[in-house]
Amino acid sequence: MNWTIEQRYQRIDDMPNGYFKDLIEQRKKDNFYPSFHIAPPCGLLNDPNGLSQFNGEHHIFYQWFPIGPTHGLKHWYHVSTKDFVHYTDHGVALYPDSDYDSHGVYSGGGLVDNQELLLFFTGNKRDKDWVREPTQCYASMNKQGEFTKHGVIVENSDYTEHFRDPKVWKEGDTYYMVVAAQTQELHGSMVLYRTKELSSWEHLGPIKTDYDQLGFMWECPDYFELDGKSIMLFSPQGVESDNPYEYKNIFSVSYILGDSLNKDKPELVNHKAITQPDFGFDFYAPQTYLDEQGRRIMYAWIGLPEIDTPSVDYQWTGLLTIPRELNVIDDMLIQTPLAELKALRKEKLAARGETLLPSSSFELKFEADSNFSLELSNEKGDTLIFEMNETEFKLDRSNNTHIYAEEYGLVRLAPRLDRTQNIQVFVDNSVLEIFINNGKHTMTSRFFIQDMNKLSLSASIDANLYPLDSIVGLHTNTELNLANR
Ligand code: FRU
Repeated sequence: MNWTIEQRYQRIDDMPNGYFKDLIEQRKKDNFYPSFHIAPPCGLLNDPNGLSQFNGEHHIFYQWFPIGPTHGLKHWYHVSTKDFVHYTDHGVALYPDSDYDSHGVYSGGGLVDNQELLLFFTGNKRDKDWVREPTQCYASMNKQGEFTKHGVIVENSDYTEHFRDPKVWKEGDTYYMVVAAQTQELHGSMVLYRTKELSSWEHLGPIKTDYDQLGFMWECPDYFELDGKSIMLFSPQGVESDNPYEYKNIFSVSYILGDSLNKDKPELVNHKAITQPDFGFDFYAPQTYLDEQGRRIMYAWIGLPEIDTPSVDYQWTGLLTIPRELNVIDDMLIQTPLAELKALRKEKLAARGETLLPSSSFELKFEADSNFSLELSNEKGDTLIFEMNETEFKLDRSNNTHIYAEEYGLVRLAPRLDRTQNIQVFVDNSVLEIFINNGKHTMTSRFFIQDMNKLSLSASIDANLYPLDSIVGLHTNTELNLANR
């Protein structure tokens, strides 16, 4: 379906009775819908937003367009969990109901401060000539789960109309904010602001690195310190590479690891070369937060701007990765599935050679020190293949039942760094998250094999297979949860 601007900017309240029930019922018929990933009730999910642990729970918000599986007027949807198995579906948290966010409550981060959860976001506004006037805004959530929008706190003085996605942290009594901004020279940048009062912020300018000319926009910036290092994580647009591994998707994700951030004259000091956290087909807009145990947890959107997936036929698209704990080892960002996810494991099965799958949602673990291949397939012979040779890993979805985004290629490669490989794979109907070498590399992708029922492993591999339970509390309602109206 081709969506007109009018259709993309319709409001929830204007939709006829039964409209959302119908969408949700169509979505429920989709066998490719995930069971242990956070996915939207209907419509389009994009970036994770406002991640935080507050009042005993982890809060996960996401960008959401309810009316159909396309980009339009964005809301913040809200779910929470104590244990990453049982969830509460809170419905819509933030509506685009103010003048400053009339064209969408866009992405941003969360910060627990003075017994409240502060939610920073971009007010996306367009004027009558459709010119965008973005501002950085915030809302708060109290312990009762009530939201208050506080309005605009940062206006755009120095950048083009691409100025969005605030991420805020606090050191002592000083707040810092990074914002994604396109410079007047039309390059991407991560811009730093500082304040002691949320209402007025000092503009410190783009954080200097060796990559000041890279791409035309850096979306969804995140800055954090971890294991003694300073990390800039962002989603650059307009970057290409001759290297066989990097920048193969329409837009990619990068990080730059440095020794420290000079906040007075913004610069990432003594940094390494830019690199990618993920080498799969569908990974974008990651965001991190620090939980009460001191873990740095990351979620990303399994999806990409401007790419339609086959899920749109069932009135939904986009989902979040499983939560991943981050660490820095040997100057690399290491990603580990959050330990709590082990609670989803059912019995442990041995997988060798060919195995009939007991479930299409499972986890697989094995070690390998020579070439191997892992194939998921159906009776018709449609496949997804993940394999390793002497130098690299290859993920091949060219023989899937449903193929999409083929203009960006049907194969992704990742470099092989070590001799012995420790591989952990999470499969959830149409989603695959591969952790290579305890998370030195990951490959995250959608894939579509109708009635997938078989796993084939090379003879050298002895794997453990755990069928995984569904997460509980999401994906079940047949009515839309229009809370906080
Ligand atoms: C990234 C992004 C953000 C923006 C949001 C709008 O996917 O384009 O830059 O805030 O999505 O939904």
